[in-house]
Amino acid sequence: MSKEKIALFTIFGGTGDLAQRKLYPSLFKLYQKGYLKEHFAVIGTARRPWTNEHYHGVITDSLASLNADPATVAKFAGHFYYQSHDVTDAQHYVTLKQLSEKLDAQYGLQGNRIFYLAMAPNFFGTIAQHLRSENILTPNGFNRVIIEKPFGHDFESAKELNDQLTATFNENQIYRIDHYLGKEMIQNISAIRFGNNIWESLWNNRYISNVQVTLSEKLGVEERAVYYDNSGALRDMVQNHILQILSLLTMDQPVEFTEKDIDVEKVKALRSLRPLKPEEVATNFVRGQYAADGDVKAYRNEDKISPDSNTDTFVAGKVMIDNFRWSGVPFYVRTGKRLADKFTRIDVVFKRPIVNIFNHDDVRENDDAATSLAPNVLTINVEPTEGVELRMNAKALGQGFATTPVKLNFAHDAAATANSPEAYERLLHDALNGDATNFTHWKEVAYSWKFVDVIQKYWDEHTPDFPNYRPGSMGPDASDELLRQDGHEWIYKE
Ligand code: BG6
Repeated sequence: MSKEKIALFTIFGGTGDLAQRKLYPSLFKLYQKGYLKEHFAVIGTARRPWTNEHYHGVITDSLASLNADPATVAKFAGHFYYQSHDVTDAQHYVTLKQLSEKLDAQYGLQGNRIFYLAMAPNFFGTIAQHLRSENILTPNGFNRVIIEKPFGHDFESAKELNDQLTATFNENQIYRIDHYLGKEMIQNISAIRFGNNIWESLWNNRYISNVQVTLSEKLGVEERAVYYDNSGALRDMVQNHILQILSLLTMDQPVEFTEKDIDVEKVKALRSLRPLKPEEVATNFVRGQYAADGDVKAYRNEDKISPDSNTDTFVAGKVMIDNFRWSGVPFYVRTGKRLADKFTRIDVVFKRPIVNIFNHDDVRENDDAATSLAPNVLTINVEPTEGVELRMNAKALGQGFATTPVKLNFAHDAAATANSPEAYERLLHDALNGDATNFTHWKEVAYSWKFVDVIQKYWDEHTPDFPNYRPGSMGPDASDELLRQDGHEWIYKE
């Protein structure tokens, strides 16, 4: 079977930042690898009145950092067409349809269409409705729609959005992006768990003490202030990326490693999240907002942010899962802007041995030697290092008998990871293949919002004492306290 994929992409928001930073380079890499060849075309649409020539220049510029052969770049850019388009104007869809049909015939695209909605979600419904009413969907090929986050800002708005989309597309034609699901080590969670008896047989509340998920960012809000100030860290990172990661960490083994079976298990896991009562929010979730430090502005002084903004730029929370496997195991999650460093990691902390036979004066050479055994920790390093680390106890080198923690370490080597596809490239490839395994399905989105809505509502009704953390730290002290009150501590410390 030829690996070449055949499709017409229509990118709504074709002049935008996401298209230029992620989509065009990813499509180009698929082109370099031969997944896209002669039989593909891209229509970029947005309101700006660009010409095709200008658009080609933008495509070329977006690939500059790849240092690719200019002739290949020019050939690739030749597949791109720009159409100035007002998504609310029905007349514009008539021209879009004509151009789509022309390109379909010209490139032999067999009616295969991918609509990429890289713009504000309030337009998704209008676009989907017009695609149907103006007959831009084809009867002969596939029609798929890829949606960028945010998918709503609470359960109600997400449902409304979903209803609008499903009036045109079936669930199996909708590809909701969560770019964390395109990351190598997030995909690796299932291989590590279900490919190794030593992990899967210990992966439950009898052996695991707690699990910690950290998505730490060094930068502030940068140029996305307007979006971010209406969102905050809870909606921006927890509702989607963090709960998706939790579902992969906690789901039961799927019958087969297929999209449908995995979705069934992820939905079960998300349904099992213990919903918080409003009065439990304050003791289970911590919010933060960064202060100023030296040259770094406080969040409230960033451009386009109101000086009295109460938006959370940090969240830490304790999530419990009420099922047989996880009852009693806290899942601590945290994420924030302007933290100590940029990284993502998962720490699975195991229970200590039931009896510590080394905690005995006779077996120690001196009083400084370890008397307690550190818990085993399996760390999945998602980024920037991609690998797995295991902390275990072993005998300290030398005379006497003290134990000391040692590390077993695996990391993909930098050269190999540099050549492995980036999240958007993988996800576009999956969408071309009709494989939505690494996209979020409606029920997952619905349960995630229901969990998060209670927290957000409580926060909206209670004024926080912001700012409350220093840029370059790992968030407010209350985040450490959250674990301390359970007798735990963050494995990654500042
Ligand atoms: C996005 C958020 O979904 O993820 C951003 O909207 C955040 O605020 C980004 O910076 C982090 O992604 P990554 O891949 O850089 O960890």
